[in-house]
Amino acid sequence: MRPAPLRTLVYLFPFTFSLVVVCLAMGSTGSTATASNGTEERGKVIFEKRCASCHGPQGRGDGPEAPFLSPRPPSLISAATSVKTDEELSAMIENGMPRTAMRGWKNELTEEQRRDVLAYIRSLVRFYNPVTPQTPPHRQ
Ligand code: HEC
Repeated sequence: MRPAPLRTLVYLFPFTFSLVVVCLAMGSTGSTATASNGTEERGKVIFEKRCASCHGPQGRGDGPEAPFLSPRPPSLISAATSVKTDEELSAMIENGMPRTAMRGWKNELTEEQRRDVLAYIRSLVRFYNPVTPQTPPHRQ
C-alpha cells in the first residue's frame, strides 16, 4: 500500500487548508484589534498630514523634504527613537528641537492629538519580546 500516505495527505488537505485559513483570519483580526483602538488611527491621519513630509509615510526618515534638511529627520522606527520614553518623545513633539527643522507642535496639536501621533509612531515599530524563551547568555 505505497500510495496510502499520499492519499491520506489528499484527504487531509481540505482540513489543513481550512485550518490555515482560520489561523490567518484570527491573525488578521488580532492585528486589526490593535490598530482599531482609535488612538493609532487618529494618530495616523495626523502623522500623514503633519509629519510624513519629513519623517516619511512609515516614519523611516525618508519624506520628500528630508534630503533638503540638515540635520536630517531621523527614522522614527530606529532603536535610537524606540528606546526613548513616552515622556521624552512627547516633550520633543511638544516643544520641538532647537536649531533643527523639528518645531514644536503644542500650538497646532492638542495634548490628545500629540498622544495619538505618538501612539502611531510606536505602532510602526514591529519588535515585540519573543514568545519563546531566550537562550541563556554565554558564560565568560
Ligand atoms: C520640517 C520637517 C519635520 C516635520 C514636519 C516634523 N519633523 Fe520631527 N524631526 C525633524 C528633524 C530634522 C528631527 C531631528 C532633530 C535632531 O536631529 O535633533 C526630528 C525629530 C523628531 C523626533 C525625535 C526623534 C528622536 O529619536 O530623537 C520625533 C519624536 C519627531 N521628530 C516627531 C515628529 C512628529 C510627531 C511630527 C508631526 C507632528 C514631526 N516630527 C514633524 C523634522 C521634522
